[in-house]
Amino acid sequence: MPNGVSLRGQLLGWLLLPLFLLLSVAAFLVYSETVKLTTLAYDRALFDSTRALSRQVQVRDGRIEVDLPAEARAILRYDERDTIYFQVKDAAGRVIAGDHDMPVPPAALHRVDLPIFYDAKLNGRSVRVAAVFIPSPLGTGTGETLIQVAETVFKRDSIMRDALVGIVVMQLCILASTALLVWLGVRQGLAPLDGLQAEIASRSHLDLRAVPERDAPLEVRPLVRSINDLLQRLEANIDAQRRFIAYAAHQLRTPLAGIKTQAELALRETTPQAMRHALEQLHISAERATHLANQLLALARAEPGALSETHFCRLDLTRLVKEASIAWVPEALSKGIDLGYEGSSVEVMVRGDPLLLREMVNNLLDNAIRYCPPGTQVTARVMNEGRPTLVIEDDGPGIPAPDRDRVFQRFYRAVVGDVGGTGLGLAIVADGAKAHGASVRLESLDGASGTRITIVFPPAQE
Ligand SMILES: Nc1ncnc2c1ncn2[C@@H]1O[C@H](COP(=O)(O)OP(=O)(O)OP(=O)(O)O)[C@@H](O)[C@H]1O
Ligand SMILES: [Mg+2]
Repeated sequence: MPNGVSLRGQLLGWLLLPLFLLLSVAAFLVYSETVKLTTLAYDRALFDSTRALSRQVQVRDGRIEVDLPAEARAILRYDERDTIYFQVKDAAGRVIAGDHDMPVPPAALHRVDLPIFYDAKLNGRSVRVAAVFIPSPLGTGTGETLIQVAETVFKRDSIMRDALVGIVVMQLCILASTALLVWLGVRQGLAPLDGLQAEIASRSHLDLRAVPERDAPLEVRPLVRSINDLLQRLEANIDAQRRFIAYAAHQLRTPLAGIKTQAELALRETTPQAMRHALEQLHISAERATHLANQLLALARAEPGALSETHFCRLDLTRLVKEASIAWVPEALSKGIDLGYEGSSVEVMVRGDPLLLREMVNNLLDNAIRYCPPGTQVTARVMNEGRPTLVIEDDGPGIPAPDRDRVFQRFYRAVVGDVGGTGLGLAIVADGAKAHGASVRLESLDGASGTRITIVFPPAQE
């Protein structure tokens, strides 16, 4: 349906236009039937005169005569509106009685003793003629005598005109009242939609309750159901966000309170050495709080439903992973870890959110470098074996089997000891992979030693 087309307009159009056509056809049929019946009735009356005249044809002294007294002639010619003509003609074509300049019946209609009707012109006026050929009476020669009565067509024309006007007026009345009824019906039929509209319009933005489905007409229920589904998803999403904000606030409150206390302590120190020491502690706490805030923001981006796939773009995973690895080289070097990139050197395209993908790769590299001792190797790899695949592996201590399922949970940390970290890194990886429709697999290499995390993306369509 094109933009801005009203349902009412469509319904009215679809109902009234065919109705108008139907009524026009009906009007035409009624009119032609009226014309036929009226013609038949007038023709019969005209032919009665012809018959009456034919009965007056007599034979006297071997010649045909018409015995028509003056009164009978007056009756024959009498009509309120039309002019009547008549004629009796013998087989030789002699006019025995009546008007001389009468037309002759078309040859095609010629038959004996049966009524003939035809239209003709007489003295410049249209006339209808009823004629009959009767066999010439005995002794008057062969051939037929022609008897004709004609009348002008004023009353026929006027009755047709009246019939036409009557039919058109009647049909227009029917059309107008039907239009009114249809309009009322459509208005009545669509009234529940207005109720629905009012119900939704009167709501506050916080009211995400389902729209009552039973008040809606059957045809609109699927739409109401979809709206309710959407409302439900929206509510779940808003709930998740609300919970996340409460949770993030709670997580940040403690480190921020700690920073404040440490700053107060530092201010109270009197010697520069003590002050410096206190400031160093403060710096560490501030770094941790910053890291926590960054991880929380990354997690918010990875949350289910936070990103819409319509905002994803096609990007080269090889390039993204290579760039991230290069950025981590100084950190790896400072820890005596050999960080390298292996795998595809050509483009491997995926559809996704570049920021979130970078966060995921950074977290995996950060983990490998953070939890592996000096002298170990960390390898990043991008492959395209049917599906774009990212692997980050190391030959470090590995993750103990009991922890492997739980490291993807938020705030779960398997390490003991002060290596820093919030326990959110792998949760970001897991949620981010889910947002991209990708799967994550965690393996510990060579028994307990080494960790390999593999993410398999869906193929990127053109
Ligand atoms: N490559 C790895 N080798 C050994 N253990 C690992 C490795 N990666 C993760 N882990 C373990 O899994 C736990 C969870 O990791 P995760 O990245 O989720 O949190 P984190 O590193 O502690 O904190 P964050 O990444 O938020 O700073 C870590 O505490 C660590 O014990
Ligand atoms: Mg981590």
